[in-house]
Amino acid sequence: MPVAIPALMEILNAIQADHREMRAIIKRLSVTTKRGASSREKLFLRLHEQLEAHATAEEEILYARLREIKSARELVLRSLEEHHVARLLLAELDALAKDDESWGAKLQVLQESVEHHMKEEETEVFRAARKSLDRDELKTRGEDFLRRRKELLSERKSARAA
Ligand SMILES: [Fe+2]
Ligand SMILES: [Fe+2]
Repeated sequence: MPVAIPALMEILNAIQADHREMRAIIKRLSVTTKRGASSREKLFLRLHEQLEAHATAEEEILYARLREIKSARELVLRSLEEHHVARLLLAELDALAKDDESWGAKLQVLQESVEHHMKEEETEVFRAARKSLDRDELKTRGEDFLRRRKELLSERKSARAA
């Protein structure tokens, strides 16, 4: 009997699991206060690293592929712009003192923007991917996505440790 490949290996499930994790981190971050600047700092670092690795792996493994499909092109371009905006906000949140009074407001804007983006991915982007890629490719790309994401995370961690 062939060994069943866990459903999690499919790229859309891997992306969704990642979204769940990021939603949870953002939620925890949203209740931190400027008095808790050091726990804010630690949680934010985690969010920053995970979001960056997630977005880059999505771009390289999923969006690069969907871009080839004419009907998905507009959606892909919009998603890439949304990644760009998230990166700008992350860079500003990174640079801003964690006890600055604007930090929480800026995080809220990131939260709304990232939530909108993830919902769009989970509906429109997933629909486009299911329509255009077969099950085997979804599985292969799932493995590629997880591998690439892991690689990016460890690159960042070792850059930080250096
Ligand atoms: Fe994304
Ligand atoms: Fe995503």
